[in-house]
Amino acid sequence: MTTKVISVSSAPFSGQKPGTSGLRKKVTVFQQERYLENFVQAIFDTLSGQQGKTLVVGGDGRYYNDVAIQTILRMAAAAGFGRALVGCDGILSTPAASAVIRKWQAFGGLILSASHNPGGPDGDFGIKYNLGNGGPANEAFTDAVYQRTQEISAYRTIEAADIDLGRLGEFQVGDMAVSIIDPVADYAELLESLFDFERIAALLARADFRMRFDAMHAVTGPYAKAILESRLGAPAGTVVNGTPLPDFGGGHPDPNPVYAAELVAALADSRSGLSFGAASDGDGDRNMVVGRGFVVSPSDSLAVIAANHALVPGYAAGLAGVARSMPTSCAVDRVAQALGIPCYETPTGWKYFGSLLDAGKATICGEESAGTGSSHVREKDGLWAVLYWLNILAVRDTPADVIVREHWQRFGRNVYSRHDYEGIETAAADRLMDGLRARLPQLAGSLCNGLRIEAADDFAYIDPVDGSRSERQGIRIMLDDGSRVVFRLSGTGTEGATLRVYLERFVADPSRHEVPTQEALAPLVQLAETVAQIAGITGRKKPDVIS
Ligand code: G6P
Ligand code: ZN
Repeated sequence: MTTKVISVSSAPFSGQKPGTSGLRKKVTVFQQERYLENFVQAIFDTLSGQQGKTLVVGGDGRYYNDVAIQTILRMAAAAGFGRALVGCDGILSTPAASAVIRKWQAFGGLILSASHNPGGPDGDFGIKYNLGNGGPANEAFTDAVYQRTQEISAYRTIEAADIDLGRLGEFQVGDMAVSIIDPVADYAELLESLFDFERIAALLARADFRMRFDAMHAVTGPYAKAILESRLGAPAGTVVNGTPLPDFGGGHPDPNPVYAAELVAALADSRSGLSFGAASDGDGDRNMVVGRGFVVSPSDSLAVIAANHALVPGYAAGLAGVARSMPTSCAVDRVAQALGIPCYETPTGWKYFGSLLDAGKATICGEESAGTGSSHVREKDGLWAVLYWLNILAVRDTPADVIVREHWQRFGRNVYSRHDYEGIETAAADRLMDGLRARLPQLAGSLCNGLRIEAADDFAYIDPVDGSRSERQGIRIMLDDGSRVVFRLSGTGTEGATLRVYLERFVADPSRHEVPTQEALAPLVQLAETVAQIAGITGRKKPDVIS
């Protein structure tokens, strides 16, 4: 019997424009009648050929996850999907969703998450569409979706009761089959195929090695417990904050030294007995790696991961190339040069790595925003990075901080920091960026605060695979000694604008590698203020977050 499709009349909402990673808004915005439905319908209208195909659905377990999934399933049935694969309890981390899409050759997937943004009734919610390759839809697609949201006049659904998301098994929503799947199994199997689980297990069993994984009350709890504790034998309690909560325990599930301060402090305290720490974000795609009293910067982590690939079974055969987002430090470029492989520089946003990975041009990718990953999925992958590090530690039998210091000795150190000015007025942020853009021609070749600016531009990218062009991806001020200051507005916030200032300076001399980061970068901070007039335009004398 064919279930009747109901068309519910609707009208456009303004502002349904997907940002860096899908549509992210306050929960209260999503709770407006027809808001979610409009956006989902716009996605389905932009697709073609989904009839009878499989859709993967899951999210990071934040508030509204379960409600949204029931709505989506009814609409997916109305859109003609033949099957939905849904993570049990509505859970699928972003990398696990990517893995499931790829393994089962699904048509695509809807991932419900606002990543590292806080959750709960007053927090954020988000939704994004991933394609059959497991990666975020490209800009052409998201632009088309936005276009569609502006002209929508109805959405389509069916009459069907909610299903029990907490029970594994086969269900039916109208004519669409729904399989409630174990959210961890496919993903764990994939990771096991890449890393030396035996050696990692041996490391975790050692009395002189203790690790802590902080899941920040977000989605990686069940994944980390299953893989680190059950599979690899780490002692129970290795994973802390391991139960996903709808409001992430009131915290901010972003693995950086500010929001994961407890973990950093524990690693800095020798009495804790900890040798290695790691954390992941709301939806499990970001990571932070911490040694004893030493936070590994994401840019350095990417470089170390690339440099040590020969030690990791899944990558021992060699890397086709590496890729980093433009504001990410150039540390990995030096590794690529030493390995004789290409290094691609893309705009911010994991989606830009997709075509390089699909085309086999890059094997490992990473971003300064705590994201690292590889061709095994089409998203960045928090636990993947943690296991990669454990694999390196197990083989080299060297602490994480020493591994990074030895890396600097060999390649030089790209001293790096990001300064964030959060929640500034959108108009002021635009004025600041426009002002910078207007001054670019004068800046190039000029002397500023005694520093020689060799080049200044607004980063534009031409995808080497499909030739698509992305403009205005960040202002770059490049000095003659290889230092850089980059200005960019965040594409993931939901309140006002966030200005990010990325600062980088290359230090070759090993005797100067231990100079405190902010001290080494002070002249660049001055330069940023002079060229962008941050205080004058935004009224902010110092950044809210320094990472
Ligand atoms: C998301 C994307 C990342 C990107 C980051 C940038 O996390 O998945 O690929 O690097 O956003 O965030 P921003 O706030 O700087 O736009
Ligand atoms: Zn995330």
